[in-house]
Amino acid sequence: MMLTLSKIKTPSRQLTLLTSLSLCALTASATELNAQSLDQKLRMKLTHHNISQVTPPPPQSPALVALGRNLFFEKEISGRRNMSCSTCHSPMLGSADGQSQSRGQGAIGLGPARRQKADEFFQFLPRNTPSLWNRGVKQWTTMFWDGRLGGTPQTGFFSPAGADTPQTFSSALAAFAIMPVTPDEEMRGFPGQLDAFGQVNEIGELGNEDFIQIWDLVTARVTNHDGYNTLLADAFPGVPESELDISHISEALGAFMTDEFTALNSPFDRYLKGNNKALSKRAKQGALLFYGRANCVNCHSGALQTDLDFHNIAAPQVGTGRGDAAPLDIGRGAITENPADNFKFRTPSLRNITLEAPYFHNGAFAKLTDAVRHHLDPQASLANYDASQIEPELAGMFVNDADTINTLLTTRSPKLNISGAPLSEREISQILAFLSALTDPDSLNKLDIVPDNLPSGLTLAD
Ligand code: HEC
Ligand code: HEC
Repeated sequence: MMLTLSKIKTPSRQLTLLTSLSLCALTASATELNAQSLDQKLRMKLTHHNISQVTPPPPQSPALVALGRNLFFEKEISGRRNMSCSTCHSPMLGSADGQSQSRGQGAIGLGPARRQKADEFFQFLPRNTPSLWNRGVKQWTTMFWDGRLGGTPQTGFFSPAGADTPQTFSSALAAFAIMPVTPDEEMRGFPGQLDAFGQVNEIGELGNEDFIQIWDLVTARVTNHDGYNTLLADAFPGVPESELDISHISEALGAFMTDEFTALNSPFDRYLKGNNKALSKRAKQGALLFYGRANCVNCHSGALQTDLDFHNIAAPQVGTGRGDAAPLDIGRGAITENPADNFKFRTPSLRNITLEAPYFHNGAFAKLTDAVRHHLDPQASLANYDASQIEPELAGMFVNDADTINTLLTTRSPKLNISGAPLSEREISQILAFLSALTDPDSLNKLDIVPDNLPSGLTLAD
């Protein structure tokens, strides 16, 4: 009995072995074919949308970067000597602060733990702090969620300072730092508030629009410190300190941000360089949707996933709102004063997007998946918006009356549309896999960019 069985088994085993071998061969070639066609399809899509490797910004002068590094962490340039650029653009928090809306003067602590100080006058900044990744690349010519500052050396520079805007900058990023030092709620401080040493804040008594006076006092804060003498002389050889102004301070900050926050080594960058293995299959499928029937590319175009243009995607109106329109924030419309631009915001780059939560101009969405899902069905997203995801201090600030919702939905961009059937859960997760592949691993921890100490002697802590 035993013998017979094994006699029968032997050939059948061989047969099984043979079959599985040939099946194996078949599956292998099928996967190969599939993979090939996935890459071919994706590379065709990328070519079709003109997406190629990003040209990194030119190398920055080391002396300018060294000065900018100190200034970026320097509290001396804030009216009350109590906060720096890094208070909101933290190297440990994806060059932002992890808050829905940013907190400036009258608050204490860092990142998500930054809170209003009970005994001080405080106002939220109206918007979410954006990250600083890749702002130094050539194509990046407008700044802010509403594009109110920008320009190029060829076209000149514009800003809320109007005709007072200095014109000598090398890029829009180099022009940027003229702004954060001016608003009272941001770095300058409110009238009457003393500085960190209990002394009068001479900049705090001015008005938000006294640009030139503010800039001169901020510049003097830097030049008055002996610790900055050598840094300034090395960065601007031959320029006497008396001739330095805010444009020099800002240019140095721009050089530093360009040097440290250029992040062009994500898996997607490696794929663009020709390495088919840089992206997972799921990320490739997600990219095919992003550049295909999900039409994300209509606005998130180019290799940095932004057209740097302005669109209304019916973002939930949560938070304080901004300016005359508060509690609404009409975004670009407040800059152009053209109602057709109401509720438009600049398309964010999606580079390092996994490090950028919370999302949107007001930090309306705590999770990346919800930020993406909002695009797929703005109507349902507004109707089901969970206002508990913003910070407790902003609780209850959600304008969702029928009129506002109707205006948001009826004026939203027609570019926001999915071709064909709604995306399945599987497809949404593929898009999320693609978005993850836009993260440069070097951006996860930027603690190495923090100087050991500051020329002003002020503390780097908090
Ligand atoms: C109190 C928090 C805070 C401080 C301090 C701060 N920022 Fe910002 N930053 C913001 C917010 C909020 C925005 C967006 C505001 C808007 O769009 O209306 C922003 C925008 C920016 C942008 C534009 C990015 C883009 O994509 O448009 C740059 C660049 C920048 N900040 C650099 C700096 C520099 C340099 C300093 C120091 C001189 C600084 N910030 C200080 C909160 C802050
Ligand atoms: C009509 C133009 C448009 C299209 C199409 C579009 N987006 Fe956006 N997207 C925007 C704008 C504008 C914002 C910022 C909205 C705001 O801040 O209020 C944004 C925000 C985002 C954010 C949050 C970014 C941040 O820094 O807060 C993500 C993620 C995103 N989009 C992904 C996608 C994906 C994925 C698709 C395709 C399914 C897509 N977008 C399609 C215009 C668009």
